[in-house]
Amino acid sequence: MIGPSFPPPKKRRKVEQNVQDSVLHPRHPFKDSPPNFALLAKKYEDFASFVTIKKGRGHVNFRDAEAVRAVTKVLLKDMYGIDFDMPLHHLCPPVPQRLNYLLWVSDFLDSNQPDVRCLDIGTGASCIFPLLGYKHFKWTWVASEIIAESIESSNKNIERNSLTENIEVRKQISREHIFEGVIKPGEKFFATVCNPPFHSSLEQTGHNKKRALEAIASELVCPGGEVQFISTMISESLQFSEQVIWFSTMLGKKSSLKPLKRKLNDLPQKCHVFETEFQQGTQSRWGLMWTFQSEGSRFNKAEEKKITRKQVFIVENSSGAWSRFEKICKSYGLSFTANPMIYNLTGTEKDGNGFQFKCQGLCSGDTLAITMTFGGGNFDLFADLVTWIQSRLK
Ligand SMILES: C[S@@+](CC[C@H](N)C(=O)[O-])C[C@H]1O[C@@H](n2cnc3c(N)ncnc32)[C@H](O)[C@@H]1O
Repeated sequence: MIGPSFPPPKKRRKVEQNVQDSVLHPRHPFKDSPPNFALLAKKYEDFASFVTIKKGRGHVNFRDAEAVRAVTKVLLKDMYGIDFDMPLHHLCPPVPQRLNYLLWVSDFLDSNQPDVRCLDIGTGASCIFPLLGYKHFKWTWVASEIIAESIESSNKNIERNSLTENIEVRKQISREHIFEGVIKPGEKFFATVCNPPFHSSLEQTGHNKKRALEAIASELVCPGGEVQFISTMISESLQFSEQVIWFSTMLGKKSSLKPLKRKLNDLPQKCHVFETEFQQGTQSRWGLMWTFQSEGSRFNKAEEKKITRKQVFIVENSSGAWSRFEKICKSYGLSFTANPMIYNLTGTEKDGNGFQFKCQGLCSGDTLAITMTFGGGNFDLFADLVTWIQSRLK
C-alpha cells in the first residue's frame, strides 16, 4: 500500500498521553488487585508486627522506614521467593513501581530474542532491578554502582539467592561516567535501565510525606540532578550504540523530559526515542528510551539472520482509537483497511525498497489486541505507533 507522502515528514509528531491509561502495566501482577497486607501478615510472622488490621483490612505505616523495608521484603518473598535484605539507611525500593518500569522495558523485547541480558546503572544497596528482572523475566544482568557499601549489600542479596551466575555487580570507579568503565569491549546488552539520583541538592529532596525516605546522599543527589546524569548517559550511549539495543531510564521529574529529548535529537547520530508515564497511586515517574538501531536487531546481522520485532498490546477500543491510528499511518503515506472485527494494515515503501511492517488488531468488546511486526525499513513509523499504542494501554 503506497501513499503519496512517503518518506515520512521529518518533524516528530506529538503523541497524546492519557494519564489514566498509563496506570499499572497491563501485565502487572497488581494491576487489578493490590497487595493484601492482612493475608501477608497471616502468612509471614515477621511481617505481622508491621500490619494493623482495621475492618478486616491490613494497613502499614509507610512513614516508618522499617515498615517500608518489611513490605519490600515480604513482597519479594511472596512473589518470587527472594530472600531480601538491605541496610535501613539506604534507599529502599517499592517493588510495584520498579516492576512497572521493567514491564515497560519488556514491551520492547523481540519475542524471538533468546538470552536477554541487561545492564542496571546504579543498582543501589538493593539490587532491585536485577533481582526482579531475573525472577520475573529470566533476564541476566550486569549492574554498576559507585558506593562500596551498596555493592556489598547488593552482592549479599545475589549470594543469598544463589544468583551469582545470573547477576554481576561492577564497581564504577568514576562517578562522572555511566557506561565507560562498565561495559566491556564486545559485550552486548538488550537494554540498559536506570533509576538516577533525581535531585541536584539535598534541599530539593522534599518528598512524599506519606512514605519514609531513608537514603544516603548519592542515592538522591548528583551535580546537575537527573538531567545532568542522563545527559552524560546520552552522550556516552553513542559510544555503545552497537553494543546496546535499548537505552532507558526512569525519571523523577516530568520537566526533565524536554531537555533530554532535545539532547537526544541533537546527537550527531540519529536515534529513535520513546517516552511514557508510570503512575502508581498519586506518584508519577516517567520513562525515556532510545535506540540507534533501526533494522530490528543488528546483533544478528553477522549471522545474516533476519530478525523481526513483534509486540502485542492490549488497548482500549474507544471510538477515537482507530481514527488516531489511521491518521498516523496516513501521515506516512500508508493506507488503512478496516474490518469491523479484524483490522489489518500492511505497508510497503513507495519504491518497494524493503519497508516491512505489519499490524493486525483483533477487536473484542471494548478491547483491542494489536500485534505489530516490524521487519526493517522505516523505524520512525514503528516508533510513533508503539508510542501511541503505549499511551492507550489499558
Ligand atoms: C536513586 S538510586 C537507585 C537505586 C536502585 N537502582 C533503585 O532503583 O532503588 C541511584 C544509585 O545510583 C548510584 N550512582 C550514582 N552515580 C553513579 C554512577 N556514575 N554510576 C553508577 N551508579 C551511580 C548511587 O550510588 C545510587 O545507588
